Amino acid sequence: MLADTHGPAPGVPSPDGEIDLRHHGDAERGPGLLDFAVNVREGTPPEWLAERIRASVADLADYPDPAPARQAVARRHRRDPADVLLTAGAAEAFVLLARVLRPRRAVVLHPQFTEPESALRSVGHPVERVVQQEGFALDPGAVPPDADLVMVGNPTNPTSLLHPAKTLAELARPGRTLVVDEAFADCVPGEPESVAGRTDIPGLVVLRSLTKTWGLAGLRAGYLLAHPDMVHRLGAAQPLWSVSTPALVATEACCAPEAVAEADAWARELGARRAGFAGELRAAGLDVLPGAAASFLLARAPSGERLWPRLREHGIAVRRCDTFPGLGPDWLRIAVREPESTQRLTRVLAQLLYERVGD
Ligand SMILES: Cc1ncc(COP(=O)(O)O)c(C=O)c1O
Repeated sequence: MLADTHGPAPGVPSPDGEIDLRHHGDAERGPGLLDFAVNVREGTPPEWLAERIRASVADLADYPDPAPARQAVARRHRRDPADVLLTAGAAEAFVLLARVLRPRRAVVLHPQFTEPESALRSVGHPVERVVQQEGFALDPGAVPPDADLVMVGNPTNPTSLLHPAKTLAELARPGRTLVVDEAFADCVPGEPESVAGRTDIPGLVVLRSLTKTWGLAGLRAGYLLAHPDMVHRLGAAQPLWSVSTPALVATEACCAPEAVAEADAWARELGARRAGFAGELRAAGLDVLPGAAASFLLARAPSGERLWPRLREHGIAVRRCDTFPGLGPDWLRIAVREPESTQRLTRVLAQLLYERVGD
């Protein structure tokens, strides 16, 4: 019998029935809880990277110099340095876009990470939600033709789906800014559907993050790739020295060919573990969304009841999904973890779902 020692997750305030777009997986972690809620790669940052970051402390008396990191990003994605803006994580890029753009019709494709919508709303831009149907596959036809700002994630959080680059390109059109959030792109070996290197897609802005693959959420490191005019406009709205020296050192290091190869090897291993885990979750009784490509799975409990608080009572934190537009309380996002943890989760799940069937 597992201990019943954990209360419900911190509440998600919804006084007016509105979804709290600022609720994120880290709020669901807690002391003693086995964490399947947060999607950061385990065992990171690697020691070689932590050492580089520590060494950068010696240079903190000087203001940050973004030039070497910018060059490294440009080389990594075969772009010109003028196409690169270094940011304090992808989150800063969402805010810069919201501050600089004046969209007449902004569309966010859901379900997806909620910060893009939150950033737009926080400066007063109305946002239209287009919820993807048919297993959440990307449907460019569902986007209003006159939308002049479209935001999409690839692979998408929380569906874990990887949209084809060809379909993404169909979303572009003259006069439209197309923002593709690739915070999880390096979960995919070889990144075949990444559009980070593309200069032929009009209005494209690609966001990247070091947070997930390198375990650097607290450092705030990321970047965006776009036409130099857009880079210039967004950069002009950015606070001076917004990206710290340690974040710049990490960005340069993670764009080196050896680091890219390390991430790629991990992505291959992740793919194998994810497939096994999906099978175990299905055997335990969950409907797992097929086609996952990132470091997490999206699953649904067939009974449609709230499963996440019950798991929490059993010492396991998963990401509730009722804070994602287009999903509801019967959906869960579950990070792919090492076998010891996943076995415990699947055992508890099977027990909870079995009890419910027997009700
Ligand atoms: C899809 C997606 N994009 C962007 C971010 C934010 O990344 P960063 O830490 O670089 O701001 C997250 C964090 O959860 C995310 O899930």
